[in-house]
Amino acid sequence: MEVELTRDEEFAILTLNRPEALNALSFQILREIGEALDEAARSDARALLVTGAGEKAFCAGADIKELRNRSLTEQRAGAELGHAAFGKLDRLPIPSVALVNGYAFGGGLELALACTFRLAAPKAKMGLPEIKLGLIPGYGGTQRLPRVIGPARALEMILTGRTVEAREAEKLGLVNRVVEGDLLAAGKAFAREFTSYGLPALRLAREAVTRALDLPLHEGLMMEADLSTLAFQTEDAEEHMAAFEMKRKAAFKDR
Ligand code: CAA
Repeated sequence: MEVELTRDEEFAILTLNRPEALNALSFQILREIGEALDEAARSDARALLVTGAGEKAFCAGADIKELRNRSLTEQRAGAELGHAAFGKLDRLPIPSVALVNGYAFGGGLELALACTFRLAAPKAKMGLPEIKLGLIPGYGGTQRLPRVIGPARALEMILTGRTVEAREAEKLGLVNRVVEGDLLAAGKAFAREFTSYGLPALRLAREAVTRALDLPLHEGLMMEADLSTLAFQTEDAEEHMAAFEMKRKAAFKDR
């Protein structure tokens, strides 16, 4: 297995474990990512942390050696496999945090972009270098990058294929923050800012913001009215609003 899913406290941790190839995404690894995400969705973890094994890389992208000499049908199936695997992060019932511990290129950055949040080590380097191979990003980069950093900056990264260092990535909004020291510990601390809240509201908030980027404003506001009404109907909301009024403590039950 080149993808490991482990449990640590309230976290599920997905590790790409192919350091000899800088965790490059073979088709087998993409399938294993999909399976690991299904398992994470079934678990009682409250957040998923995604990282890469080894000192150098989060993930150096699609396995270039596998990409060659394929028919158009195979290419298309490969893109759909990547979309299906990373799309599971959108539908994961818990938020996810990519811990970008080194290189995140091509499909590797696309994996990080599919996560809810991204933290980076100071030495991390990111980019979509597909243009240098005569390709364009194929695992969601042309769609998710402009949604995260805006179309002008996304086009600059995609058309030049240039490498962005961690500090610049933070300024661009490509990563939420750059953290010194132990990235896993920092990822846990970051996630603990939300893991004690109720899962239904966390999920509804993620869905509302994700769909905001696809909808005209008036439709988005209607969708927000629907989702916020659903949040009001949860036991968690009722219990916490009652507890506020009665000045007593309450606990989230995820219902
Ligand atoms: N695919 C397959 N193997 C890869 C790989 C990749 N994307 N990236 C690195 N490797 C392998 C290398 O072939 C090498 O293996 P060998 O020792 O067997 O030769 C090993 O990992 C170590 O790599 P390097 O020796 O190149 O390490 P480096 O430190 O000198 O360079 C790097 C690091 C700058 C990340 C360089 O490896 C590199 O440029 N990799 C390719 C990055 C890239 O172009 N990614 C985009 C892929 S296309 C894509 O992702 C399309 C899409 O949208 C889905």
